[in-house]
Amino acid sequence: MKPIISATLGIDIGTTSVKSVLLSEDGVILAESEILLDINRIDDFSVEQNPDDWWNATCECVRKTMDLTDRRVNLLGIGLSGQMHSSVFLNEKNQVIRPAILWNDIRTRAECDFINRQIGVDNLIKTVGNFAIEGFTAPKILWLKNQEFDNFKKLSKILLPKDFIRFKITDEFVTEPSDAAGTLLFNVFENKWSEDILGKLDIDHSILPSVFGSCDITGFVSKKSSKELGLQEGLPVFGGGGDNASGAVASGVILPGQIQVSIGTSGTLLTPINDLIFHGTSKLHHFSHVSKNLWYLMGVILSAGESIRWLKEILSFSGKYDDFLRSTSEIPVGSKDLYFLPYLSGERTPHNDSNARGCFIGLSSQHSRDDLIRAVIEGVCYAIRDSLELLKKDKYTLDNQIRLIGGASNTYVWKKILSNVMGKSVNSMNFNGGPAIGAAMIGLVGAGTFNSITDIISHQVNIIDTMHPDHSVDDYQERYEKFRELYPILRDWFSLK
Ligand code: XUL
Repeated sequence: MKPIISATLGIDIGTTSVKSVLLSEDGVILAESEILLDINRIDDFSVEQNPDDWWNATCECVRKTMDLTDRRVNLLGIGLSGQMHSSVFLNEKNQVIRPAILWNDIRTRAECDFINRQIGVDNLIKTVGNFAIEGFTAPKILWLKNQEFDNFKKLSKILLPKDFIRFKITDEFVTEPSDAAGTLLFNVFENKWSEDILGKLDIDHSILPSVFGSCDITGFVSKKSSKELGLQEGLPVFGGGGDNASGAVASGVILPGQIQVSIGTSGTLLTPINDLIFHGTSKLHHFSHVSKNLWYLMGVILSAGESIRWLKEILSFSGKYDDFLRSTSEIPVGSKDLYFLPYLSGERTPHNDSNARGCFIGLSSQHSRDDLIRAVIEGVCYAIRDSLELLKKDKYTLDNQIRLIGGASNTYVWKKILSNVMGKSVNSMNFNGGPAIGAAMIGLVGAGTFNSITDIISHQVNIIDTMHPDHSVDDYQERYEKFRELYPILRDWFSLK
């Protein structure tokens, strides 16, 4: 029998799936599993999920992971991560009032305009670090008030996805700074809810959870949830982090200059900062990281992996992603002058335009299925490059390397194209699975196995492969410049709907 090993369990409430990972104190993934989730795309603007589905998937996923390990494990606790911004509305009996409105739902344009006007973009940035964007949580609360007043009257608590799961596990209403920062109600300078913004938006402080540190113990596995999860009662549950911040722990991105690109349903590019300095009304998000006095700047595109998922679905390709993408590396750079704008759900960074829509531009009868697939990958990479340009414009000193996490990090063609479009090397990490692992790492710090996030990263995170840009960088530079011209030409047309 192998000796007992200490480990933590990381759980990530993603958009397409719930993942859980058992990570040992010596950095070995002992077991992991994933349970897929349904997404309800109601119309062009509205995307919802049922929080109870997250909970059922979490129970199944955790049981599966624990069953998969062949080791005797001393479980030290649980770390949580999840999609940011998405709103779980609870009534006073702590029941879910309506489906959660997700981060990529763009129904709240009117509420965002109201918030930006009412408080002023400058004031918002100086307090909560960001101006109002459809995906954030505060506009969703106002939408509930404006559009579903009966539901609003029942509202007793609002939770983010991972914090809803925390509530199911521990009966505690708690969040932590990296997720709180995505609500537009959290003072990212003072590390607490902003009474000023709450007052101006007439939102009652009592509906918000308490804010603990990411590595703090926030509660313990209750008797009831221990039965549902198949875990022992009384295990500590640590704060954890929003999925982008947790992913950045798993990829070791905690120093200014480092860059993480995550390609999941969304595509994000982030870089940590030690100081919150604002450059006018920067289009980048300013969010709290999982350590004190550390933040990050981030650009978000709403449909990265989602664009490939969409194409695979409409082309009725039922095989694996690897097979779907296999022949695209043989397609020439630029996909025979075909461009794809990945704005399937509008776009956040840099356009902040919920009317924008996806387009193929330059189609001819010469184009094959594989040209379309490659054009989608290129379009997603160009759109992520837009966020890099915003950082360059604000004169941030950046590494020449990117750490890539998410599904794309396992795929040659994604890494090759990303590297050439960005003009930077792309590193694959030992922990490319991202947020669930980051959450387990946060748990190992919380449990005292490591002294700090920096400490665990130095022991557990490694670069395993580097893809360098090649001779196609110049070609891609020209094509990126053309890509950039397309949105301004189409903007007015998008808004004519
Ligand atoms: C970040 C964002 C997305 C979600 C996806 O601002 O909206 O990356 O966190 O899970």
